[in-house]
Amino acid sequence: MSPGKFITLEGVDGAGKSTHLGFVADWLRAQSRDVVVTREPGGTPLGETLRELLLHRDMDPDTELLLMFAARQQHLAELIRPALSRGVWVVSDRFTDASYAYQCGGRGIPAERVAALEAWVQRGFAPDLTLLFDVPPDVAEARRAAARTADRFEREADRFFSRVRHAYLDRARSEPARIRVLDARQGIDALQVEIAALLQELG
Ligand code: TMP
Repeated sequence: MSPGKFITLEGVDGAGKSTHLGFVADWLRAQSRDVVVTREPGGTPLGETLRELLLHRDMDPDTELLLMFAARQQHLAELIRPALSRGVWVVSDRFTDASYAYQCGGRGIPAERVAALEAWVQRGFAPDLTLLFDVPPDVAEARRAAARTADRFEREADRFFSRVRHAYLDRARSEPARIRVLDARQGIDALQVEIAALLQELG
């Protein structure tokens, strides 16, 4: 049996990526794939407990980074790696690109620290495809304002999200084959046509 593929969705808070998670999963299921949908931080009982702390408790930026990777290690060990080896495709709402974008871009932690944790926890493992939902800061801001009560990240200032966005776009420029940038200002239907084409390319 061939292993499953790992697809991640990324973007600043308010980019609208979560709207498209279900579409990705349904599209793959229509191609007779077994699919599991998950998220970070989270995805396992321990990861979801860490998520509560990460989203609601104030903490030092390095503690935040370490907890993101503690949750990620558990996610890989308990869910992602076993599913892929059973031939199941895994679709995750965020993964390590978010640590580069938020903890490095947003909080200013040096990228070498994230790279060291990534090497330790992932041992060369990376997503097969990353969909980066990109929107200008004012659009993301308006969408965040319309959303439910804000968590610790969503309460950050606009300039924080501007740094996060630029860090995401820098990563996309350095890994253009894996990270595909989508203009998330488009309507849902137009975006889904683009997403379907990228999934098709993945085979
Ligand atoms: P969500 O709102 O998309 O569910 O993500 C929760 C928050 O966690 C979001 O504001 C981004 C943040 N985050 C990081 O800062 N670093 C990470 O590595 C991950 C996975 C998420």
